[in-house]
Amino acid sequence: MSKQGKLIDGKAIAKEVKVELKEDIAALKAINITPGLAAVLIGDDPASHIYVKSKSRACKKLGIYSEVIKRPAETTEEELHTLIGELNERSDIHGILIQSPLPDHLDELGAVLNVDPLKDVDGFHPVNIGHMLLGSPIFLSCTPYGIIRLLNDSGVDPEGKKVVILGRGNIVGKPLAAILMQKWDGCNATVTVCHTGTTDIPAETRQADIIVAAIGRDRFLTGDMIKEGAVIIDVGVNRVEDPAAEKGYRIYGDVDFDDCVIKASLITPVPGGVGPMTIAMLMYNTVMAAKMLTGLSL
Ligand code: GUN
Repeated sequence: MSKQGKLIDGKAIAKEVKVELKEDIAALKAINITPGLAAVLIGDDPASHIYVKSKSRACKKLGIYSEVIKRPAETTEEELHTLIGELNERSDIHGILIQSPLPDHLDELGAVLNVDPLKDVDGFHPVNIGHMLLGSPIFLSCTPYGIIRLLNDSGVDPEGKKVVILGRGNIVGKPLAAILMQKWDGCNATVTVCHTGTTDIPAETRQADIIVAAIGRDRFLTGDMIKEGAVIIDVGVNRVEDPAAEKGYRIYGDVDFDDCVIKASLITPVPGGVGPMTIAMLMYNTVMAAKMLTGLSL
């Protein structure tokens, strides 16, 4: 098959998710409710500013109210908690996200603990993580949820398959493992999570039907580490200095795309794979939050 035929088009699948949401948003607006998302951005991490801008732009395109609350890096714990408390109380805000990473002096878990779990559209609050683990989710974390949709909408059913996840981070690896192991349609997989304690990562990945790379290491997964026909999902966004590039750097995933595409049956590109799905699922969770908080089953 051609390289093109093997590509999982995250942009196209994200668009489908957003088209589905338009109906729900219209139904909410018909009863004078506009879903609202507040993004809290502390400090001046350039990547975070870009991410928050993309999230806000996606809201506006869909007709979701978006408020970006920027605060300086010197913001204190108390100021942040007061701000979150105010957002919890506001009836026009249905979803709250605290863009990560926060400056070092601020406690991320402490901040997330202050978010009302019913407004925690990132799915990071321990209450939501607990519900997810128990199989009775309120919100699923956006990137893992997006990966499940990417797979399912590409005709890949993880049920009965061996899935290897590279990385055990709180945003992707851990929640994705918890979701894929659930006895749900489109999940029910046998999951292995590889990390720094794994003695032979290539031995694990070579057995995998599906590999999700989320370790933040530039082009870590190479062709010799995968089996013929594997499905490859690349979550990595690694900035690599390159004086020959227009911007002075290039973005690579955690997967060596050119090497893996030869053996893979399906593979996500970077950019245009997982990234757009994370945003689409954030929109999905925000609309769900609006529906829940208004007591509607539209
Ligand atoms: N930083 C990196 N990814 C994310 C995300 O999905 N949500 C938030 N709030 N911060 C992030």
